[in-house]
Amino acid sequence: MPKTYSRYVCQQCGRVAAAPMGKCPQCGSFNSMVEEVVREESPVKSPNAARGLTGRTSPRPIGEFGGSDEDRLHVPMSEFARVLGGGIVPGSIVLVGGDPGIGKSTLMLQMALDMAKSQRVLYVSGEESERQIKMRADRLMEKDEKFSPDLFLVTETNLSAILDHVREIKPTLLVVDSIQTVYLPELDSSAGSVSQVRECSSQLRELAKSSGVSVFVIGHVTKEGVIAGPRVLEHIVDTVLYLEGDRFQAYRLLRSVKNRFGATAEVGVFEMRERGLVEVPNPSEAFLAERMINAPGSAIAVTMEGTRPLLVEMQGLTSPTQFGNARRTPNGVDYNRLLMIAAVLMRRVGLKLSEQDIFVNVVGGVKIDEPAADLAIAAAIASSMKDISIRADAALIGEIGLAGELRLPGQMPVRLREAQKLGFKVAIVPKRLRKAEPWPTNIEIIEARSVYEALQAAFHIEKKEIPGRKVAGV
Ligand code: TYD
Ligand code: MG
Repeated sequence: MPKTYSRYVCQQCGRVAAAPMGKCPQCGSFNSMVEEVVREESPVKSPNAARGLTGRTSPRPIGEFGGSDEDRLHVPMSEFARVLGGGIVPGSIVLVGGDPGIGKSTLMLQMALDMAKSQRVLYVSGEESERQIKMRADRLMEKDEKFSPDLFLVTETNLSAILDHVREIKPTLLVVDSIQTVYLPELDSSAGSVSQVRECSSQLRELAKSSGVSVFVIGHVTKEGVIAGPRVLEHIVDTVLYLEGDRFQAYRLLRSVKNRFGATAEVGVFEMRERGLVEVPNPSEAFLAERMINAPGSAIAVTMEGTRPLLVEMQGLTSPTQFGNARRTPNGVDYNRLLMIAAVLMRRVGLKLSEQDIFVNVVGGVKIDEPAADLAIAAAIASSMKDISIRADAALIGEIGLAGELRLPGQMPVRLREAQKLGFKVAIVPKRLRKAEPWPTNIEIIEARSVYEALQAAFHIEKKEIPGRKVAGV
């Protein structure tokens, strides 16, 4: 073992100190000193250590290297495979982040159970005992299903011991639950600190790259995302997945925010049931299942989650303000976006929202940050304000500009096809200036230049006019 010692390095200016300091003496920034481990390498290095990961440093033509898509390990859970970009890449390290209690351990254990049918899997937990994991696994399995002999469990938090287990068992897949609980004994700081989290994940990455084991690390996100949040690791790992959703609702979205081996922003949809996470292959259908037809304050948006179109119901509610200050309360959409949409509705459409509290909710507990949902949000609010329902057979797509104009989002044909597939007869969309790509013809398309025009088309009344309008049209 090479000798190691700690030093403290300012993350802002690089100043090195022997002891931790609250304020950097060089640049004056606070709490920027982070512990780093220095290993005193013995002068006689092994030939491979001097030559990088593979021990082969001479350049070769690109075609001579292995590493094609066929090398990926097949993942039976197709929503999971989709997010990874088609399967697990051998030797890759994947971070699965998310709030506590959202279902990360459940997802990883299900994946481990599935993968153990064809691979050797080691599941290391620092949070639960083997018995607890076994009990959970019992729940996740079918009644008469047998456990695979290739799934190994161990409760361990010392990373050196974990690496020994890997050497002994030689798995193709390693799950570490969670990175905040493992520690290197050489470091002074406690498990979960930035330096521990970073050092441990660096060692796991080295393990993955040198031995070809695919490593999944679970990481908790704190509310502020500051202390040892998985943010520190994002650049160390190959792929970052986030499991998100409302803890009180069933749907969970697994989103890839970084992927060296596939498209980012790809999303897998799951539902948390009694017996674990169940894949939702048709999320749009699921999200619209409980919709109340012809209720005021409801509009359907078509957003893109990665390469997949998703239809969601936007609900809006306005109610007179009680205490002077009108409140805007979004659930699932961005607060500032809602302020902007409300302002446009006031100034460009003439709705008197200044003395109204506004609530917006995305049904299903998903978060929508795509501007293409603006029009549906605006329509839901206007519909509630005027107490007139939106046409039940219409989907609304469009980004709203400050002048009240509508802008065309990308990938319109895919969105329109999905709306049509789910039985929508009409799509209210921004006016096309260039007709570059052909749009589907089996859905009626109403093109609107402005929010006002779109609302006129969307409202479910004979005389298609918004009552109470005072501002001149855009
Ligand atoms: P868990 O995977 O322990 O969360 P994390 O590892 O992200 O902290 O999931 C915890 C929640 O999932 C818990 O509130 C109960 C719920 N759950 C189910 O609803 N059904 C199940 O079959 C399982 C295993 C968990
Ligand atoms: Mg857990």
